[in-house]
Amino acid sequence: MTDNISEIRSTAGDLFSGTSGAVIAAGAAGFGLGILAAAGRRAAVQAPTYFAGDWLDGIKREHEMALELFDAIEETDASEPKKRAALLLQLQHALGKHAVEEEDVIYCAVRDHGADENADELVHDHGVVKQFLYDLEKMDKSDPLWIVKVREFRSHIEAHMREEEEEILPRLHDRLSDEQNQKLTNRMNREGFKVA
Ligand SMILES: [Fe+2]
Ligand SMILES: [Fe+2]
Repeated sequence: MTDNISEIRSTAGDLFSGTSGAVIAAGAAGFGLGILAAAGRRAAVQAPTYFAGDWLDGIKREHEMALELFDAIEETDASEPKKRAALLLQLQHALGKHAVEEEDVIYCAVRDHGADENADELVHDHGVVKQFLYDLEKMDKSDPLWIVKVREFRSHIEAHMREEEEEILPRLHDRLSDEQNQKLTNRMNREGFKVA
């Protein structure tokens, strides 16, 4: 946990280095505070993943959070197209960050440990996720078929999450030493922070 927090600090530190002097010298409240606010917002977005524990707990926490967004979307009705669009945007952002963490770090480790086919299959699933998001964004949110597509999307993503949580990722976790798991956790959080 301490390592995770210092990782956030060092990532945020990297972000500020080289800019803070100029920003302070200029006394540019708008721009300087803008950078600080952006880093704070990113840290806040990444925090539930950091505090969940190691990388596999972080992945599971993000899955739960995505399913909570699906719940909220399914509670809307066709008379609330703006609310649907706003929730869909949140889901796009959450799944986009999650995909970066998995594709840029976790699936690479899956490949490093000889499970190329698993990694390819998971990346393919992410392509289907992006297609659902694209289609749902284009569709009229008050169309009765919109929520039907959301449910189809949910069943696809739940199957993908189950495969990750119950099969492929625990296998990777078991193969790694504590130190390797810790490094993977740090790396995943760093990548997540960049796009949070
Ligand atoms: Fe995934
Ligand atoms: Fe996932």
